[in-house]
Amino acid sequence: MEKKKVLFVVGSLRENSFNRKLALAAEEQMKGKMKIAWLNYEDLPYMNQDLEENPPESVTRCREQFLNADGVWFFTPEYNGMIPGGEKNMLDWMSRPLVAGNMQSGTALKGKCATASGVGGSFKTARVRAQLDDLLQFCGMNVMTESQTGVSTNVMETVFVISDEVKEELKQQGVDFIQFMERN
Ligand SMILES: Cc1cc2nc3c(=O)[nH]c(=O)nc-3n(C[C@H](O)[C@H](O)[C@H](O)COP(=O)(O)O)c2cc1C
Repeated sequence: MEKKKVLFVVGSLRENSFNRKLALAAEEQMKGKMKIAWLNYEDLPYMNQDLEENPPESVTRCREQFLNADGVWFFTPEYNGMIPGGEKNMLDWMSRPLVAGNMQSGTALKGKCATASGVGGSFKTARVRAQLDDLLQFCGMNVMTESQTGVSTNVMETVFVISDEVKEELKQQGVDFIQFMERN
């Protein structure tokens, strides 16, 4: 069977992002098991319906990245208990019809599989992952909610060490996600 194509989305834009490190660890665990691409969304403008008719190149590029994937794996921080603004803005763009004004034209998200992990403080990003699950379902994605990886760390530190236990959780989540994509 063809390897599943999975798009990695990191909800943090900062260079030393712990969530990016978690995603890199997941990539390492999934070596040879899935085909991974990384979403590049840093240059998206704020969602503005006036821009939809002639969307900027960054929007088209992000859409293509989603459309090329079987599934999407989110690695998200929690900002004030919620989805970070940049990540939410990207999802708002991606939730819009592929042909402006034509609600029947589909979206870059609809029908895709999704799963979420995250690094944060004591809540292990549980709140933001629950919100993300809701939002992604609202956008028509098939969300795997049973198997997730939530990590708690001291977010005031500059160093984030990923334990063997977390690596195992990521591996399990990845294997579960492959099966989930095969079923959905
Ligand atoms: C605006 C802002 C709000 C935050 N709110 C929360 C929060 O509600 N819960 C939490 O666990 N951490 C919160 N944090 C701390 C982040 O979890 C921490 O900075 C984390 O390292 C961000 O993820 P990253 O390392 O991938 O950038 C917040 C950080 C920022 C910048």
